Amino acid sequence: MTVEALAEDTRRRRTTKLGIVGAGAVGATLAYAALMRGVAQTVALYDVNTAKVRAEALDLSHGIQFVPMAHVEGSDDVEVLADSDVVVFTAGAKQRPGQSRLDLAESTIGIVRSILPRLVEVAPDAVHVMVTNPVDVVTYAALQISGLPPARLFGSGTVLDSSRLRFLLAEHIGVAAQSVHAYVVGEHGDSELPLWDSASVGSVPLLRWRTPDGAVALDAAARERIAADVVQSAYRVIEGKGATNYAIGLAATRIIEAVLYDEHRILPVSSLLDDYYGIGDVCLSVPAIVHAGGVGDRVEVPMTDAELGGLRASAEAVRATARRFGF
Ligand code: NAD
Ligand code: LAC
Repeated sequence: MTVEALAEDTRRRRTTKLGIVGAGAVGATLAYAALMRGVAQTVALYDVNTAKVRAEALDLSHGIQFVPMAHVEGSDDVEVLADSDVVVFTAGAKQRPGQSRLDLAESTIGIVRSILPRLVEVAPDAVHVMVTNPVDVVTYAALQISGLPPARLFGSGTVLDSSRLRFLLAEHIGVAAQSVHAYVVGEHGDSELPLWDSASVGSVPLLRWRTPDGAVALDAAARERIAADVVQSAYRVIEGKGATNYAIGLAATRIIEAVLYDEHRILPVSSLLDDYYGIGDVCLSVPAIVHAGGVGDRVEVPMTDAELGGLRASAEAVRATARRFGF
């Protein structure tokens, strides 16, 4: 191992703590994914449901022998999250079948109001990642409630939706999802949209990808169907099992890694925009550089007029909901 590699390895192994608010379907699955990937040496869960949070921590601890070295804690006292490096917020009601994410705004904002100030006290240096829905509105409200710098509090945004898009495109084209590069931007919700123009497969622009018989792989009808499928993905899973948890657990783990390993990875997280193609004063997902300080520069991805129009409409939808709740 070179001296540089050794230093990098040591840096990555620094004792780190992941705090998770909410030990429900999302919080517990995130803890499991984070343990499997060994992202932090302490994984702490906080939930108002004492029996549930203790049981989840115990169940996770019983598997510690099989994952990279770590320690799990669970409590109904927010102090359990003290000195976390990253805190992921998953507490709150989930959608019932037929409900949209925006329908959850009132109850979720109440929960954020009741917990966040205390969280900031116990983990003053943490980067906060909001997951609870409607995540863009919640992120905007949380910034105002906490007074934290916008770099240090952002939402998981459309990292999950972009992964769904890449999965669907990969299936359609017949390549690995890892070889598809495409973003969903805007609201994590019904007004989101894929950026087709900048998407690529390998290094080939997606819109120029051809099937073996020479036809365009993704005509307008296929694009429309896949975009609609992405929006419907969560509804479909919720209809079948009442919650989505595995993909968000992995997506949030990816975000945490970008922060804890100071990766400068480009991820479509939901952050407070300030003149992004003229869009500002709203939390929305666009590709952004994620590093140890949280969310850094937003990437100005080239967009068609239609894509930009879609992003502006999405910003309006999120802004309108935030305003409705006094933010
Ligand atoms: P869940 O009902 O399974 O778990 C929520 C947990 O929050 C429960 O254990 C509950 O006790 C806890 N909780 C409620 N109020 C609390 C408080 N004041 N303090 C501490 N804990 C509290 O729900 P879930 O399926 O885990 O979903 C959680 C949230 O995540 C929902 O809003 C859901 O829509 C959202 N979600 C977001 C994404 C995304 O991509 N952003 C993906 C999936 C789910
Ligand atoms: C999702 C949640 C429900 O899985 O926001 O997209």
